[in-house]
Amino acid sequence: MKYRKLGRTNFQVSDIAYGLWGMGGWTGSDDKQSLDSLQLSVNSGCNFFDTAWAYGEGKSDALLGETMARNKKRLYAASKIPPANDKWPALPKYKYRDVFSADHVLKYADQIRRKLRVDSIDLLQFHVWDDSWTNDPEFRSTVEKLKDGGWIRSFGLSLNRWEPENGVKALHTGLVDVVQVIYNIFDQAPEDELFPLCQALNIGVIARVPLDEGSLGGKMTLETRFPKSDWRSGYFGTENLANTIKRVDKLNKILPPGMTLPEMSLRFILSHPAVSTTIVGMRSPEHVRQNVAASDAGPLDAALLTELKRHRWDRKPQPWSD
Ligand SMILES: NC(=O)c1ccc[n+]([C@@H]2O[C@H](COP(=O)([O-])OP(=O)(O)OC[C@H]3O[C@@H](n4cnc5c(N)ncnc54)[C@H](OP(=O)(O)O)[C@@H]3O)[C@@H](O)[C@H]2O)c1
Repeated sequence: MKYRKLGRTNFQVSDIAYGLWGMGGWTGSDDKQSLDSLQLSVNSGCNFFDTAWAYGEGKSDALLGETMARNKKRLYAASKIPPANDKWPALPKYKYRDVFSADHVLKYADQIRRKLRVDSIDLLQFHVWDDSWTNDPEFRSTVEKLKDGGWIRSFGLSLNRWEPENGVKALHTGLVDVVQVIYNIFDQAPEDELFPLCQALNIGVIARVPLDEGSLGGKMTLETRFPKSDWRSGYFGTENLANTIKRVDKLNKILPPGMTLPEMSLRFILSHPAVSTTIVGMRSPEHVRQNVAASDAGPLDAALLTELKRHRWDRKPQPWSD
């Protein structure tokens, strides 16, 4: 496993890291298997874990807390404060105060600390963001309170899907140590403005949804269906599934011999120097083994990276995408 510095924090984090969303209630999630997979990842050198209160109302925070308590190694926990108005994604018409008031943020930060079984959270992120909120004085005072009071070690923003520029203003405040953004073979737009800014300001980058919610795992087909209760049933609905599978088929045609699609996808992400780590959603030990191996395999060669630029797919937020 290889490690990178997470921006201006002092954390040396594994470049392949763990996303716990699927453990909070997706179809097929099984707590025993989730805990076994988390432990296997720790044994394999994974030391950075992304969870959120919203993933099962503290459920995945608690699974992570249990894993950290069982292990003596230094493991880094990143969690997220849900929006108080329960609206996803953030929109400029919502007032900052109705989404992340100090009372709301401190209440959830405390609940998360308890679930993680820590006094200070390594990285606390706002789960949604709209840049029109940047100059609200309560934003600054709340983040300063969290840091000065030792509630958190670093602060981050998780940017809305397919809006990588909607966070750029906030990054200039000096309050944000780490940014979390969707970045994968399809969603390459963060390279345009966000990544150069993060490099200039030494802000850590967490690349999320590295496998496009599963399509870049290479096992989905036109016949794949998720139950209505599963978030992915909307994302991979009629509008998106066929278009996605068409693009996945094109990627399969350019796979180098011996390389799998998830391996190429993860190594594509790790090839960008602005990326500190990528959080892969994994629940099975088999996926942990496969994904962790991408770290040692390292960046892709220049010719393949050039070819993959052509598979960029710029999308706009849709009613089914959040
Ligand atoms: N707003 C936000 O802040 C936000 C939003 C989305 C995600 N996130 C974070 O980002 C993390 C990653 O995103 P994600 O989990 O939504 O999507 P993802 O990592 O792009 O994809 C997860 C899917 O890929 C499958 N998979 C994993 N490894 C595989 C492999 N080696 N081969 C084939 N399939 C594989 C998983 O299978 P199984 O179904 O079998 O497990 C799961 O269906 C989340 O867990 C969460 O921590 C944050």
